[in-house]
Amino acid sequence: MTGRTALTIVLAAGEGTRMRSATPKVLHPVAAQSLLAHVLQASPAGSGTSLAVVIGPDHRAVAEDARRTRPDAAIFVQRERLGTAHAVLAARDAILRGADDLLIAFGDTPLISAATFERLRAPIKKGAALAVLGFRAADPTGYGRLLVDGDRLVAIREQADASPAERAITLCNAGVMAFDGRKALSIIEKIGNANKKREYYLTDAVAIVRDLGLEAVVIETSEDEVRGINTKAQLAEAEQVMQSRLRKAALDAGVTMIAPETVFLAADTTFGKDVTIEPFVVIGPGVSISDGAVIHSFSHITQSSIGKNALVGPFARLRPGTSLGEGAKIGNFVEAKAATLEAGVKVNHLSYVGDAHIGANANIGAGTITCNYDGFGKNKTEIGAGAFVGTNSSLVAPVKIGKGAYIGSGSVITRDVPDDAMAVERSQQTNREGGAKRYRDLKTRGKTPKGSG
Ligand code: UD1
Ligand code: MG
Repeated sequence: MTGRTALTIVLAAGEGTRMRSATPKVLHPVAAQSLLAHVLQASPAGSGTSLAVVIGPDHRAVAEDARRTRPDAAIFVQRERLGTAHAVLAARDAILRGADDLLIAFGDTPLISAATFERLRAPIKKGAALAVLGFRAADPTGYGRLLVDGDRLVAIREQADASPAERAITLCNAGVMAFDGRKALSIIEKIGNANKKREYYLTDAVAIVRDLGLEAVVIETSEDEVRGINTKAQLAEAEQVMQSRLRKAALDAGVTMIAPETVFLAADTTFGKDVTIEPFVVIGPGVSISDGAVIHSFSHITQSSIGKNALVGPFARLRPGTSLGEGAKIGNFVEAKAATLEAGVKVNHLSYVGDAHIGANANIGAGTITCNYDGFGKNKTEIGAGAFVGTNSSLVAPVKIGKGAYIGSGSVITRDVPDDAMAVERSQQTNREGGAKRYRDLKTRGKTPKGSG
């Protein structure tokens, strides 16, 4: 909205007791991203906007999550949780700086869209003091009910204070509001706590606006956009809604999915053109899939980049830090972690490739293991371009296999192999002794082997 300034305050100080979890409510994930991050990403951003997040006193992790998502976020702490109006006033300093529009959203409504924030700002521009986002709830239990007179909003009644007749109302408060930024503070400061829960309800702002002779309006949206997450069951419902959205966006962008309902995506997954994802694939955070790549069934991928025309799976696991070059192939029952596979590399069957760099067109035979962990720390394996590693070989890191080198099947390699050299089984006995000796040496130096990571 050009020309108008906006301050968005996101309330995230609640304890979320109904989640029955030690994790603060707003940090629970939907599509591999916190509830709070979803709300912050939808909030107005860019020039003329500012953002404040209200957190609980013991919620440093919430502040970190907020700053990661929106480095421009100012953090305010609500010392006592005395209700949503009290929480807004924790960000009083931000409100005092003055903005044309003051938007308030809850950190536990992750499905909200950027367009809806803009829709709420429109009536404020036209002179209303308050615009409240409403929706028709299939089951309104727990939500604040919107009391309307024609198209005028008269008041919001919280569940605990509602009469049986009011409880029958299905038009509910989504929790997102826009105030006239110049009037907001004087309105919110008038809110008291004369209710069943003795809380300062932000929703009481509506009646105050009416008493002042100002205008309050309702903007309606679909229930799917404003589901508030208070329980694990609601978290699972929100996940379903978000997954349908992400699948639809992927299909619209040209991704081929035979059974999209079996594919799980993350909010930040990116796709090139002509990507195919077969049924039953799980994609975690930080994954990019380039043009023409195919992800076969039952693959699990996190924090990885898949190059053009690369093939993955079926039954592959790509852990954080995996990067596949153009046309690289990861076959069935292969696990990769912190591994760069240059263009054309093939790891076709039953292998573990961890803490490794594999040069272009190298062929890694079935059952090859990079032994990256020596009981004390992680070590790196480097395999040169065009190398051939025979089946069932153990590459005991740190180790370098030269370009074009040949490793005979069943080898245990503990010493560097020069370019174009052939390491055959004759060297195995000494190599094995080398690995055992290193382990013994570390132990005698007082190191204790740790469990593998
Ligand atoms: C609230 C609304 C209700 C609405 C519903 C929509 C009020 C009084 N009620 O109820 O009308 O239908 O959301 O989901 O506003 N929070 C704080 N500090 C506090 C209390 C809450 O920061 O002292 C934060 C919470 O972290 C949460 C949000 O405010 O993100 C809403 O609080 P919650 O307890 O979930 O309110 P609801 O009972 O869901
Ligand atoms: Mg809630």
